[in-house]
Amino acid sequence: MLDQFSRQINYLRFSVTQRCNLSCGYCGNQNCLSAKDELGAYEIQQIVQAFVKCGIKKLRLTGGEPLVRADLTEIIERVATIEGLDEITATSNGVLLTHDSAKALKAAGLQRINISLDSLNPLRYKEITGGGKLDDVMNGIDAALVASLTPLHINAVLMKGINDDEADDFIRFARKNPVTVRFIELMPFGPNGDGEAIVPNSEILARHPYLLPVEGSSKSQPSVDYTAKNWQGKVGFISPITEKFCDSCNRVRVLSDGSLLPCLGSENKTPLKPFIDDEQKLMEVIKTAIREKPTGHHFERGCAAGYSLQSIGG
Ligand code: GTP
Ligand code: 5AD
Repeated sequence: MLDQFSRQINYLRFSVTQRCNLSCGYCGNQNCLSAKDELGAYEIQQIVQAFVKCGIKKLRLTGGEPLVRADLTEIIERVATIEGLDEITATSNGVLLTHDSAKALKAAGLQRINISLDSLNPLRYKEITGGGKLDDVMNGIDAALVASLTPLHINAVLMKGINDDEADDFIRFARKNPVTVRFIELMPFGPNGDGEAIVPNSEILARHPYLLPVEGSSKSQPSVDYTAKNWQGKVGFISPITEKFCDSCNRVRVLSDGSLLPCLGSENKTPLKPFIDDEQKLMEVIKTAIREKPTGHHFERGCAAGYSLQSIGG
């Protein structure tokens, strides 16, 4: 359906948990909800179904870390029964992704997965993530490729003085592997309230003038993708700060307790849980919130909100 600015809203990002098995310094875990506040698989299905009846075509399960939920496969099986959904995807840190779990997620109905990875150096990965093992993510990437959870997108957030010296290593990774490595500009959430560590994507692109734009890459996604001759993969640039994409935003979010967040940059939430067993009412509330979706974020002015991206799922 259209919002008040005639944007077609067809993409729902559903954070199924705010818990995470990593604790990345820049993501933060302030004010995150615990398992007892999480919706159950049936409740998630009911809400997604109402959204699909309001025009949602693409669903992304996010977190926290969605794989910490023991019933993630059941959630996917349930949403996969909903008619009218074109795509079911997820965003994960990949640590818990094994060959078995990747196969089970695919069989349940997950089409692809995006994996967050901010360093290719084991020691630094451990530091950034508060103890994570790079090998686990690498095995997760391999498992996702083997299970055909593809096209596989890898999200890297570069931060000045922390991992900005790794841009070329990530680009090399994209040259040699059938994945799209996407550089995401740091947004001023939680611990990065001042946003000062941001690495503008134009700086990375300028150092690699041989990169060729991939046609049509930015139609329904904020990532602008590039590749080069004889490359296996691609690099993408998601630039919420230096190239704001709110004018073409097509997404809304639901948090793990069932509250609807129409814009990443707004703290204005609408609870949906009270209406789970009344689809007509649920659709009415969803339609009103979508219609009133704000014009956009103001991250360029500084601190986004009092919460962390861990609680929203990016
Ligand atoms: P694809 O369908 O694979 O293109 O995935 P996606 O980019 O929609 O999802 P993903 O979870 O991989 O998000 C990538 C990054 O983009 C995350 O860091 C998000 O925080 C950021 N992002 C996603 N949606 C929005 C948005 O609506 N506004 C802004 N500013 N950033 C967003
Ligand atoms: N700015 C940009 N991206 C962020 N993510 C987490 N915090 C931030 C931030 N402040 C990313 C994660 C993950 C995605 C879902 O959100 O690295 O890839």
